[in-house]
Amino acid sequence: MDSRVVQEIAEVRSQVATWRREGKRIGFVPTMGYLHEGHLSLMRQALACCDRLVVSIFVNPTQFGPSEDLSAYPRDLAGDLAKIRSVGEALVFVPSVEAMYPQGAQTFVEVMEVTQPLCGVSRPIHFRGVTTVVCKLFLIVQPDIAIFGEKDFQQLVAIRQMVRDLRFPVEVLGGPIVREADGLAMSSRNAYLDPDQRMSARALSRALTEARLRFAAGERDAKHLLGVARAILESISGIEIDYVEVRDPVGLHTVEGAVKSEDRLFVAAYLGRARLIDNAPLGGACGLPPASV
Ligand code: PAF
Repeated sequence: MDSRVVQEIAEVRSQVATWRREGKRIGFVPTMGYLHEGHLSLMRQALACCDRLVVSIFVNPTQFGPSEDLSAYPRDLAGDLAKIRSVGEALVFVPSVEAMYPQGAQTFVEVMEVTQPLCGVSRPIHFRGVTTVVCKLFLIVQPDIAIFGEKDFQQLVAIRQMVRDLRFPVEVLGGPIVREADGLAMSSRNAYLDPDQRMSARALSRALTEARLRFAAGERDAKHLLGVARAILESISGIEIDYVEVRDPVGLHTVEGAVKSEDRLFVAAYLGRARLIDNAPLGGACGLPPASV
């Protein structure tokens, strides 16, 4: 199959039905486009364990708050298609807003608890929009496997919860965070950073790395590790911290006192008009540079 771009839901359903009759295993990578190596790594991961790949490109309006960057969100469909083709064959689903949200739509899917902390505080309707659109996409694509990047770790947890609660027959996998050489997690929103802000943005991964180094050296106190991370972010002018928190990776409960290796440090900060997020487990391997940059 050549990579094919389709806009109509009926076309996706028909192609997927054919694949199902042929016994093919279908992998799905939902995106909002403006693709980078992080997205491409998810596609490679899907191709490695599935016979067919579906990629969606849809800037989902319901996951943006009224004062957020929906209209400015970067888009480059031609570039995205070239990148997808460089990875392999895929059915690329590029629906219109009207197709995904018919006139008068009033149905949402909301995961109640894991969406409350972290990004849920400053982006109160964000995860409702994410789970609603991912639910719709799952009903259209009916994948066996769907892959989401771990940079948006809370999103991954919310989608796992939705799949469990709604009994979707979909296996949800996380894909490791892909980073620039200096540690900055790849994100479409990095495009908003000017050169100075781009330099300052390294502080997010540095904060994670320093906390991980302290953990590796034996520090287990959550408060102390948070202090280390926070101090690095506070030392950079222009960074406005949204949150720095340690939470467990399954239910995203706050961890106080002694942390475990799998507990994750989550950071979010504003740099100009960009809101950047990053996270890492306190112990184990995770692709961060071994020492501070
Ligand atoms: O992570 C994203 O790009 C989006 O939140 C997603 C999962 C494609 C839903 O719009």
